[in-house]
Amino acid sequence: MAICLAHSLFILSLSVLTLVNPTPVYSFDKYFFIFGDGLYDPGNKIFLNPDEYLPSFHSPYGTTFFTGHPTGRYSDGRTVADFIAEKEGFPFLIPALNGSEDFTYGANFASEGATVLDSKKDETSLNLTSQVELFNFVIDLWKLLYNETEVKRRVNMAVYLISIGAQDYFDSVYFIGNHTIIVDKVVAGILDAIKALYAIGARKFVVQNVAQLGGLPFVKQKYGKLNETLAIYAEAHRDELNRTLVELGEEYPDLNYTVFNAYDAIGCLIDAPEDYGFKNGSSACCGNSTYRGEACGALEYEYCVCGNKAEYVFFDGVHNTDAANELLAEWMWNKTKGYVRPYGVHDFFKSSSDNSNLQIQIQMPRTQAARARPFKVYY
Ligand SMILES: *[C@@H]1O[C@H](CO)[C@@H](O)[C@H](O)[C@H]1NC(C)=O
Ligand SMILES: *[C@@H]1O[C@H](CO)[C@@H](O)[C@H](O)[C@H]1NC(C)=O
Ligand SMILES: *[C@@H]1O[C@H](CO)[C@@H](O)[C@H](O)[C@H]1NC(C)=O
Ligand SMILES: *[C@@H]1O[C@H](CO)[C@@H](O)[C@H](O)[C@H]1NC(C)=O
Ligand SMILES: *[C@@H]1O[C@H](CO)[C@@H](O)[C@H](O)[C@H]1NC(C)=O
Ligand SMILES: *[C@@H]1O[C@H](CO)[C@@H](O)[C@H](O)[C@H]1NC(C)=O
Ligand SMILES: *[C@@H]1O[C@H](CO)[C@@H](O)[C@H](O)[C@H]1NC(C)=O
Ligand SMILES: *[C@@H]1O[C@H](CO)[C@@H](O)[C@H](O)[C@H]1NC(C)=O
Ligand SMILES: *[C@@H]1O[C@H](CO)[C@@H](O)[C@H](O)[C@H]1NC(C)=O
Ligand SMILES: *[C@@H]1O[C@H](CO)[C@@H](O)[C@H](O)[C@H]1NC(C)=O
Repeated sequence: MAICLAHSLFILSLSVLTLVNPTPVYSFDKYFFIFGDGLYDPGNKIFLNPDEYLPSFHSPYGTTFFTGHPTGRYSDGRTVADFIAEKEGFPFLIPALNGSEDFTYGANFASEGATVLDSKKDETSLNLTSQVELFNFVIDLWKLLYNETEVKRRVNMAVYLISIGAQDYFDSVYFIGNHTIIVDKVVAGILDAIKALYAIGARKFVVQNVAQLGGLPFVKQKYGKLNETLAIYAEAHRDELNRTLVELGEEYPDLNYTVFNAYDAIGCLIDAPEDYGFKNGSSACCGNSTYRGEACGALEYEYCVCGNKAEYVFFDGVHNTDAANELLAEWMWNKTKGYVRPYGVHDFFKSSSDNSNLQIQIQMPRTQAARARPFKVYY
């Protein structure tokens, strides 16, 4: 059972957002980096798996928001990160693997299937260690554009979102050791990444735990019933992540973190979708067989697509709809709903960090200003 903290009725609007940027781009002084898996992948996968037909780049993916131009996001529309970006006035955070992109405000390293441990070698996704390495690369790019003080200031005030672990548990069959050991290792790997980023100067971390894996349409379909193993992993992951972060916070007093409790948030949407404006939390919108749990967008299998995507919590067997992501982003942004603790993500973007006394005046180099993109969706 999920711990449902906020049973507020949320009316989801289907209206397509008009994105306008009231402030000139060069005065924008916020930075956002994203590490994770398919829930946050903005289109990195194609750079890792270029020859494959990737459904996420084809309809019905992207048909709610990126109509006609699916971007590689594993949803009918935006990810939670996109909604957070919209709320904070960012352009959407772009795939880090697209070298021709502009990394002024950060980057998104998330790639579908990403793991912490690599129990099953998968060359078509970036494990967390590689994502952190790539972050170092982006910081090297920043160093070409800004002086050291300025780079440090930006790294320090940026918000770092990390959401990973589910694929490690899906792959647990390749791992030698019992439940306790694998959960400990996955969580320890996440903490290692946080420490590595901390060492570079990062201070504000948003850490998302994994959903109730046993309740995902993909899992229910694939294993025919509740998969106890995956259910145990997900719950243990939630508790262990929480416990170790408290320890980490004691060890590094100037490290600031908040936990987004996706386990309970998504659990509530599955258990009582109608309380939140959805009709269906048990099956995916798009896919084959009993729960539409697999094969969404596949070339070689038949699959169904629902009529009204906003009625569904899940778009495919694992990933949420645009509508569900909008609600999850709301819960992540504003701590009053109880799913993010101890801070809302908005608090992190609002606050300056420990070296706010630097008082640097931002002046974007000319070339950079010329390349800076106005706030509109480019896809
Ligand atoms: C990479 O980014 C460039 C510049 O924004 C864009 O034109 C191009 O389509 C992107 N490539 C892919 C594969 O997304
Ligand atoms: C992550 O991937 C890199 C590159 O494939 C590999 O060298 C490294 O061993 C992997 N890390 C872990 C923890 O498995
Ligand atoms: C570093 O860059 C910032 C912002 O452009 C500028 O205000 C500051 O004077 C520079 N510092 C040094 C030591 O050059
Ligand atoms: C539960 O899921 C795991 C990981 O995907 C799998 O290895 C295992 O066989 C499943 N268990 C059952 C009882 O179906
Ligand atoms: C898992 O294995 C470790 C080390 O062998 C052991 O200490 C622990 O009790 C085991 N946990 C469970 C739940 O079996
Ligand atoms: C995480 O731990 C903190 C402090 O122990 C507690 O207040 C909070 O409710 C916990 N969150 C979850 C999701 O268990
Ligand atoms: C959810 O959708 C699936 C697929 O369309 C359907 O079989 C199922 O009955 C629906 N469940 C509810 C509660 O509406
Ligand atoms: C559903 O799709 C999966 C591949 O994603 C396939 O393995 C499975 O056989 C399909 N099930 C049915 C009933 O077609
Ligand atoms: C968060 O939600 C509460 C209650 O709905 C509201 O009063 C508050 O203004 C919201 N905060 C922000 C930053 O939107
Ligand atoms: C952590 O972030 C919150 C919200 O932005 C802020 O109020 C608090 O002072 C920060 N704590 C530290 C140790 O930086």
